[in-house]
Amino acid sequence: MKKFKKYTGVMTAVIGVFFIAACTVPSRSQGAVPANAPYKNPSISIEKRVEDLLSRMSLEEKIGQMTQIERGSLRAGDISRYKLGSVLSGGGGAPSPNTIAAWQQMLAQYQEEARNTRLQIPLLYGIDAVHGHNNLKDATIFPHNIGLGAADDPDLVRRIGAATAAEMAATGIYWNFAPCIAVGRDPRWGRFYESFGQDSGLVSRLGSAYIQGFQEGLQDSFKAGGQAVHIKPIATAKHFIGDGGTRWGTSRTDNYKIDQGDTAADEQYLKDVLFPPYQKALESQVRTVMVSFSSMNGLKMHAHKELITTVLKQQWGFSGFVVSDWGGIDQVDPDYSKAVAKAINAGIDMVMVPYDANRFINTMTQLVTQKQIPMDRIDDAVRRILRVKFEMGLFDAAQSAGQAERSIVRSAEHLALAREAVAKSVVVLKNNGVLPLNGEQLGKKTLYVAGFGADNMGIQCGGWTISWQGSPGPITQGTTILGGLKELLPNSNITYDAAADFEKTDPGATCVVVVGELPYAEGKGDSAELSLPPRELEAIQKARKLFKHVILVILSGRPVILDQTARSCDAIVAAWLPGSEGAGVADVLTGKVLSTGKLPCDWPESVEQLPLDNFIQGKEKALFPIGWRQ
Ligand code: GLC
Repeated sequence: MKKFKKYTGVMTAVIGVFFIAACTVPSRSQGAVPANAPYKNPSISIEKRVEDLLSRMSLEEKIGQMTQIERGSLRAGDISRYKLGSVLSGGGGAPSPNTIAAWQQMLAQYQEEARNTRLQIPLLYGIDAVHGHNNLKDATIFPHNIGLGAADDPDLVRRIGAATAAEMAATGIYWNFAPCIAVGRDPRWGRFYESFGQDSGLVSRLGSAYIQGFQEGLQDSFKAGGQAVHIKPIATAKHFIGDGGTRWGTSRTDNYKIDQGDTAADEQYLKDVLFPPYQKALESQVRTVMVSFSSMNGLKMHAHKELITTVLKQQWGFSGFVVSDWGGIDQVDPDYSKAVAKAINAGIDMVMVPYDANRFINTMTQLVTQKQIPMDRIDDAVRRILRVKFEMGLFDAAQSAGQAERSIVRSAEHLALAREAVAKSVVVLKNNGVLPLNGEQLGKKTLYVAGFGADNMGIQCGGWTISWQGSPGPITQGTTILGGLKELLPNSNITYDAAADFEKTDPGATCVVVVGELPYAEGKGDSAELSLPPRELEAIQKARKLFKHVILVILSGRPVILDQTARSCDAIVAAWLPGSEGAGVADVLTGKVLSTGKLPCDWPESVEQLPLDNFIQGKEKALFPIGWRQ
């Protein structure tokens, strides 16, 4: 007995020592981290580094990694205060001045703050570079996706992805919320131009080409140039799933009509139309997927556990992470706490809050503490986020801001690529022989140019350019269509008047009328009429009365309804939203580049014929069918 008592006494003492030690020596989820912690060692496998780091994280640090805040809502110290995993630029979000140096400085400051946290987990900064690094003033702005769909050239799209990654890297940003791989089924949708077109196969091949170019091109080009690249850029397949198939009148957001509405999809439609672009995106190793604001058969995608977790993650084996859209969680349930629980349990890993970090983090902490979100869901989300950050090299990069040379922005190579893309995207819908414009034929005759889109950078770039909605006017550097005509017809006398208010004219002359939609983005571009601005219709009318030959060039994010006068023009050219290098349109108008673009969607005669499924199912006849070129 004595022996036993003594033994017990010894054991009590030993346990006591351990208990005190445990209380005083920090657990792995507190206190300083040893410099030789496995997760800091690049020679160890990523999965081991992830597990080591995860095991050291407190709940606060885990929830912080799942939190993404918009840069405009950040106060000094927030990144370290909340242990934020990510910051983003919303549409148009930029430092002031909007220069490469200011971007580099901003990113370096954010990363410095992240590295000053206990675990020193690097920050992941995301941005919508949907047609070039379009938040950066004077970046190369490429055609919006609908124009690339008309070009239907995967190698071209791959090169654009790589060029975009390089211009982003020059500012220290490596996560792009692109490509949008919506299968566009209704041009009344304000995001139709973000889609490559109405055909699932077209969207699949161009979406995967973009992802490959964006995620791999930077490495290849830098290796070729002998520069070491530390960080691998990552793309985002968005918006999962069915964003392009919503039905008119089903939106419940603001005064939107179709954006963020409801998509009715049976198993066959999912399998044949919506799934393939994402399956190809996963084959191309896309590392993030953004969830759609829209609903699927009445259920908000941000709460769709079956499609996010069962299909995307489990059946398809997606190993990256899923990010919510801008405040998308808030739409799931009027009760914020219930909304957060539903969305995280559905499989969302990172939340684009994007404003109130405090509210989100407190709600998450409460939900985990009350076991309404299981800890293994939190660990799965954080594991995915850390895995992608390790894969990118963010932990190991010697420097993460301004990795590419500044000179790569608007480099001659990128401008030539953009102009090539513009020319390839142009679709000649009609030509009574007036194209190509020929300098010799024109001779001393005046070439008249009209239309408000002919000399307007903002109109030819469209939405998501410098600002979220875009805006008409000289918003960034580039070449306009008028500028291109002057460059290519140096010996012709070119006279321009936007409204076609020409004084005396030669009735046998030719007039090029370049008309355009005013810029828009998302649901603000939802349109019941698909009509051109009245001032453009008037310019076409006047030109038609004044001139023997009228060439109509349309700058739009989608097919627009053409009235009789427009249809009577001797040539009709769809130039979509070409971006900063509008001279590429003049390359086709003058025959410098042969027109090869073809329609990526049916072009309706009237809005009553929509959605495009009616053409696909043979219920309606298009004015110009998909694949059309004169
Ligand atoms: C927007 C868009 C999404 C974009 C995100 C961040 O609302 O739906 O495409 O990536 O917010 O700007």
